[in-house]
Amino acid sequence: MAKSNKQWLRRHVTDPYVRKAREQGYRSRSAFKLLEIDEKEKLLRPGATVVDLGAAPGGWSQVAAARVKPGGRVIAIDLLKIAPITGVEVVAGDFRAARLEGVRADIVLSDLAPNLSGVANVDQARAAGLAFAAIDFCRKTLKPDGVFVVKTFHGEAFGEVLARLKREFRKVMVRKPSASRGESSETYVVARGLLAL
Ligand SMILES: C[S@@+](CC[C@H](N)C(=O)[O-])C[C@H]1O[C@@H](n2cnc3c(N)ncnc32)[C@H](O)[C@@H]1O
Repeated sequence: MAKSNKQWLRRHVTDPYVRKAREQGYRSRSAFKLLEIDEKEKLLRPGATVVDLGAAPGGWSQVAAARVKPGGRVIAIDLLKIAPITGVEVVAGDFRAARLEGVRADIVLSDLAPNLSGVANVDQARAAGLAFAAIDFCRKTLKPDGVFVVKTFHGEAFGEVLARLKREFRKVMVRKPSASRGESSETYVVARGLLAL
């Protein structure tokens, strides 16, 4: 086994969030990132409509479905197959081509991550491209007083993503949940209130 794979495996089996996810029935350790963001920001509430971009395997959608009950709606979109989750409508495919007729979301979540090439500036550009496309998606689908949670990556393009979010939303907060590994460059931004362009 390659050294990097061995390191990943060792970290995975000793990771407390992997163990907690297994114990609590979450499909991914990422679920704890959204739980922590939601504890601070109080985003998910009963009756809310949520669109989860890049949702597979479904940890964030599980959290959202539990918190928007009763009366809420969760739509999960991914290129990859998502096994059914109670209370979640799954849309297969690229979110950039998704047509969600009549959906007006209170919350758009984006934990989107690109296929990694291993070349840092290529990967950062791909990740920023997904974040920009998710902002375009918000323009079509998010209510004007809605909230957008988006994963971003520190690096050259981070400033550009943050600048666009600040131009297009009323209030923008950067959050690094403790479930997000310290050595990872990922960080989350919570953006509220779409501004008219
Ligand atoms: C980090 S994973 C999401 C984990 C998820 N939040 C959870 O809690 O289980 C990122 C996902 O983004 C998806 N993705 C990347 N580009 C996409 C696109 N253009 N359209 C839809 N999904 C995409 C990937 O297939 C991958 O499943």
